[in-house]
Amino acid sequence: MRVRVPGDKSLTQRALILAALADGESRLSGLLYGGDAASTAGALAALGADVGAPPPDGGEVRIRGSGLRGLVAPNDVLDLGNSGTGTRLLTGVLAGSGVAATLDGDASLRSRPMARVTDPIEAMGARVSFGDEPHRLPMTIHGRFPLQPLDWASPVASAQIKSCILFAGLTGRAFALVTEPERSRDHTERMFSAVGAKVLSHAVAGGWRVELRDPPERIDPLDFDVPGDPSSAAFLLALAALGGTPEPLTVEHVGLNPTRTGFLEVLRRMGADITVDVDGDVQIEPVGAVTVGASNLRGTVVEGAEIPRVIDELPLIAALGAMASGETEIRGAAELRTKESDRIAVMVANLRSVGVDVEELDDGLIVSGSDRALQGAVPTHHDHRIAMAFSVLAALPRHEIDVLDASVADVSFPDFGGALRRVGGWR
Ligand code: S3P
Repeated sequence: MRVRVPGDKSLTQRALILAALADGESRLSGLLYGGDAASTAGALAALGADVGAPPPDGGEVRIRGSGLRGLVAPNDVLDLGNSGTGTRLLTGVLAGSGVAATLDGDASLRSRPMARVTDPIEAMGARVSFGDEPHRLPMTIHGRFPLQPLDWASPVASAQIKSCILFAGLTGRAFALVTEPERSRDHTERMFSAVGAKVLSHAVAGGWRVELRDPPERIDPLDFDVPGDPSSAAFLLALAALGGTPEPLTVEHVGLNPTRTGFLEVLRRMGADITVDVDGDVQIEPVGAVTVGASNLRGTVVEGAEIPRVIDELPLIAALGAMASGETEIRGAAELRTKESDRIAVMVANLRSVGVDVEELDDGLIVSGSDRALQGAVPTHHDHRIAMAFSVLAALPRHEIDVLDASVADVSFPDFGGALRRVGGWR
């Protein structure tokens, strides 16, 4: 069976922002239709950009950009809903925009750390004020133009931090250099270069460095067909690996950026039979088809430099570990505690509550796999990836798992339940 998955969440948000900042008309297709993309589009529209929410069919959208200096102060608070990426990227955009705007979000987003992006933009000369709680939403970014140059060492490998600083350099016309301990996803670097804002990146002792040395006065419009999200495809491919689909499953037109494909390597190590066909024609990002069939999975260890390349798939890998022989260990992933939920604590609690043996570590977990039938009800804590990881387990016939509020998956994968039913063959 061949399927597609919704557009990439990371690429969609970057594409919408760059189109809003470009001089001229961008043509985008394949955009994610889902909560996080709608939140970012809504915020850009409130900042005066000609951006509407992406259409459900992924069809072409034309966006006439406002230019790098064209954003205006919004009349109201910008509600970023559940979107950490939208919030952190727009923090950078606003830093150099010269306008002030207040960002807020849902309970999950309000609990997430913001100092990681406000510290660097303050060092560039923007001002930030917080509501009741320091370094949490709601927060107001008082943008300034031009910003001062920045050479920032990020303590964590995070594309959101890196991208915030690059966007601040772009709108604030400032030299921006970021070093991260490991290489995180490089979508911003690729897309900046595609619109004429050249970003250089290279390995350095102790990490990876990106440099926006000569921020341009204007950027070109973007012509981009956003591929399917590999992090969304992972859930369907996992179901196929667990034997939950009647035949091998192929996800077509999915992003294959090497900074995002760690999950396929982990799944292969666990014993899955995987075929990857890369499309010849690469437009900004590599794209292709991935096929997975049923296999007996075995446990593995995921740690070190692999972590940023599988960061969004770790809850799913923990769920797969529950069905694999032996132990599955995830280490060096303390960042999981800062996601839409504390994904270490929530995975541990939820796996235990359905009958899985799991040990919690400060920076990860150890899951003992078994072939017992799992049973119970699991909360999702406003976290799409928790909802989808347990929905995959729930889709296997011998388990009786009730995923409470599974619709939180809509932020990155609208109608995920329907997609699971279709690939599982029970419509
Ligand atoms: C993202 C970066 C990652 C990832 C998130 C999307 C991005 O977050 O978990 O889903 O689009 O830049 P961090 O930068 O916090 O690791």
